[in-house]
Amino acid sequence: MSNQKIKKGIDRRSFLRSAAAAGAGLALAPKSFGMKAKSKTTDELNVALLGAGTQGQVLMDTCLKMGRDFGIRFKAVCDIWEGWNQKKVLRKLKIYDHEPAGYADYREMLDKEKDLDAAIIATPDFWHAEQTVACLKAGLHVYCEKEMSNSIEGAKKMVESAKESGKLLQIGRQRRSNPLYIHCGDKLIKDAKILGRIIAVNGQWNHPVRPDLGSPKKYAIDQATLEKYGFKSMHQFRNWRWYKGLGGGPIVDRGSHQIDIFNWFLDTVPKSVMASGGTDYYDKKNHQWYDNVMAIYEYEVGQRTIRAFYQTITTNSSQGHFEKFMGNEGTLIVSEASGTSAIYREEWVPAMKWDEWVKKGYLNKTEATPHSSDDDSSLEVRASVLPTTYDFPEKADKPYHQLHLENFFNAIRGKAKLNCPAEIGYKSAVTVLRVNEAVAAGRKLNFKPEDFKV
Ligand SMILES: NC(=O)c1ccc[n+]([C@@H]2O[C@H](COP(=O)([O-])OP(=O)(O)OC[C@H]3O[C@@H](n4cnc5c(N)ncnc54)[C@H](O)[C@@H]3O)[C@@H](O)[C@H]2O)c1
Repeated sequence: MSNQKIKKGIDRRSFLRSAAAAGAGLALAPKSFGMKAKSKTTDELNVALLGAGTQGQVLMDTCLKMGRDFGIRFKAVCDIWEGWNQKKVLRKLKIYDHEPAGYADYREMLDKEKDLDAAIIATPDFWHAEQTVACLKAGLHVYCEKEMSNSIEGAKKMVESAKESGKLLQIGRQRRSNPLYIHCGDKLIKDAKILGRIIAVNGQWNHPVRPDLGSPKKYAIDQATLEKYGFKSMHQFRNWRWYKGLGGGPIVDRGSHQIDIFNWFLDTVPKSVMASGGTDYYDKKNHQWYDNVMAIYEYEVGQRTIRAFYQTITTNSSQGHFEKFMGNEGTLIVSEASGTSAIYREEWVPAMKWDEWVKKGYLNKTEATPHSSDDDSSLEVRASVLPTTYDFPEKADKPYHQLHLENFFNAIRGKAKLNCPAEIGYKSAVTVLRVNEAVAAGRKLNFKPEDFKV
């Protein structure tokens, strides 16, 4: 490398270092996050993608959609499935005029690539801690997919390493950058306290029966390589989520997003968790983790208990996925699924009270016909048919992952504060990962405040 090129690299990296440090301390209003930087004011970021599978490709495509002006250059792709995912992604990036080098082993990538600014990690959960720590130590900012790790110890190492390195670590819980979620949590619940006293919370992710993932025989990875990277077979490699030691099962996969919303909106962490789960439908040999899980958390807010129920069912898709907050004055249902989010006022609460929030711009009033009090149906039925008369002024105007990735890159550039930094990610990881422990223990587990601290 020429001296000039080295100097240019150092200047750019030291600029990004100081900008990110400044960004870490910025307290910007949520609305300012996710803004698209103008090309003349941004610097290019050299990025590596680790894990070019389903989610790695979603994140890469999102970055490509953000356009060249956003200044992301893919310089490296690391994926152990060289003949398939790695090849596919390298080919696509080249079409978009990037010049990435391909690697199977992340250590070789970090050894050879000395001009990287950031890594996007979308490998199976059990690789996250090791790869994140190595990237942070090598001086890269990291966007790591949820769940942070398949173990609490792994997640803790990630937080420690982010602190030691002074680099940014964003966890891929994209709802944290979604304007609808920010509006519901920060404005409607915390600021307006529109639901009154929240008594109960309810969340679910139900999806239909799905066959195990297969792969073309022709592109199978050889046994030695599979074992080198912690997989016993191609089945395990493709379906790692179901295996102990590799993923955390559906409760961690799905609950990771949604139980985080419980903590965020209630502005605290739970006191206890109890749970029941089992492999009720699939073959236990290939599905070591529970296919159905139901968990109950107890939160203490202002010396009062809020009970929160969460379920994930993998054999029936009834009502899909959402999080629901129930207060004595209203109900908020929020979801990434379009058409699911809604807010309801309890009948006894005077409409005038919520009209104030409409005037202040917290809610929109919709055209729905107001519920008639002469209706003679039972109270239970009336509650369930209560029309939505309010709507939300904030909605995601870009794909969810784009908002969260933009927040990450803008934070590197010192223009935003991370929406899901390591410490927040850790609290939710502890909250979620202990559900599996509670199932195994068959009793209520209490959290200690120190469980959530690193
Ligand atoms: N935020 C979201 O909404 C969301 C959605 C889906 C998945 N995810 C997360 O993304 C991650 C990946 O999930 P997925 O569905 O894409 O899995 P996947 O199995 O489709 O892809 C994983 C990829 O990682 C590669 N890989 C495995 N071990 C590796 C290693 N040691 N080094 C480099 N590459 C390796 C595999 O070859 C594969 O291409 C998981 O942590 C998952 O929880 C997040």
